[in-house]
Amino acid sequence: MIMIAQNALAPFSDRRGRFSALKTVTAFGLVAPALWMAYEVSIGAWDRPSPSVNLLIQTGYWAIWFLLLSLAVTPFRRIFRRSGLIAVRRMVGLAGLAYTLAHLVSYAAVKLWDLGVILRDLSTPLILVGWLSLFGLIALGVTSFDAAIRRMGSRAWNRLHYLVYPVTALAILHFLLSPATIAGVAFTFSGLFFWLMAWRLLNRYRLAERPVALFGLALGAALFTALFEALWLWAYQGTRAPGGGSPLATLALNVDPEWWGIVGLSPTWKVLLAGLGVALAAALWQRTGLYARGREAGPPRAWTGRLVLTLGGAALGAFAGLALNPPPAPDPLAGLDFGDSIFLAPVGPAVPAETDWARIAGIAAAGAIGAAGGFGLGVLADRRTRRILAPTLMPTPAPDGRAG
Ligand code: HEM
Repeated sequence: MIMIAQNALAPFSDRRGRFSALKTVTAFGLVAPALWMAYEVSIGAWDRPSPSVNLLIQTGYWAIWFLLLSLAVTPFRRIFRRSGLIAVRRMVGLAGLAYTLAHLVSYAAVKLWDLGVILRDLSTPLILVGWLSLFGLIALGVTSFDAAIRRMGSRAWNRLHYLVYPVTALAILHFLLSPATIAGVAFTFSGLFFWLMAWRLLNRYRLAERPVALFGLALGAALFTALFEALWLWAYQGTRAPGGGSPLATLALNVDPEWWGIVGLSPTWKVLLAGLGVALAAALWQRTGLYARGREAGPPRAWTGRLVLTLGGAALGAFAGLALNPPPAPDPLAGLDFGDSIFLAPVGPAVPAETDWARIAGIAAAGAIGAAGGFGLGVLADRRTRRILAPTLMPTPAPDGRAG
């Protein structure tokens, strides 16, 4: 009974059964992309070329984001002295596995569930590398529970879980091997992965918390991204690359605002901004008393937990309301005159859409129901869990009568 209560509320409570705002916010954040995908599919926004193709792409992206995020937990714990962040690492890693499994299902759907085709695909490096990464992820996932740690012993468990580095590298390699990867997020992933690995090297030399070292790391990661992108595209994509097969031309695109207008900010700049953001945040945070004391978040207050769950419930409810009352989805391009614009920017004045009050009321009602549900869950997580788990939380009396 206790185990069931503990498991059911695990995403919302810490090991001692107390409500955890951090875990709750993280759980909502991990589920949010899945809800967004369900919504996009439900309103038919992903019908072109097909929902499964769009799901294949998006689940793949989110799987890698969550793997990288799980690798970022240790650096953030150290840099900001927030050791409590460890509580969400397993959740984030498992979310990476869940999105990968959804990716596999989308892939099977794209291949019309034809096992023969799926097996034949194994002969392409792209797919083979994907499978290798998936097998590694499954090994990490099934051994991520406390029982496995106890059975394996922490030494063997730690050794096995070093697999997370090659598994993430293989996932990024899998993305890079796609013939469609001629720019963009695959290189941002590569640069961020470099940052995460190089940070661990800095950590060996006890430099990993210093803002100056983090500034240097940001510059190094950006430089790596620029060079890696230019060389990878030159070696793997040849003339299909945006630079036309010349690494120098690819490098030059990083400082070409016209190119940014087409594909957005290049990976090099994104990695630089992310790295500088961490260094700057570290420099500011380390001046605060919170860092100096290395203070852990105190015991969560009941109102924090309830507020987080109420807002989360409201967001989920509104989202469900939105999915149940999808906006009319006419062809977004119908009736628009694009003139000679290559960016498909419509010409002429925008016509304001009519306000659909009934739809808004439906969404608000669903939001209110969600908020009430979230509040109820908060009360449950705060009070009942603690009561149910109270026997397990009682300090064990020592033989001499003192609490042990
Ligand atoms: C069972 C193993 C896997 C299979 C069969 C598979 C299959 C595929 C296929 C067919 C594509 C499209 C390639 C293209 O358009 O050229 C793709 C893309 C992708 N996959 Fe996988 N994959 C697997 C594992 C993984 C894993 C483990 C991850 C990440 C953790 C991942 C992340 C991605 C990403 C980010 C993309 C790129 C999406 C895009 O085209 O923009 N895949 N995968």
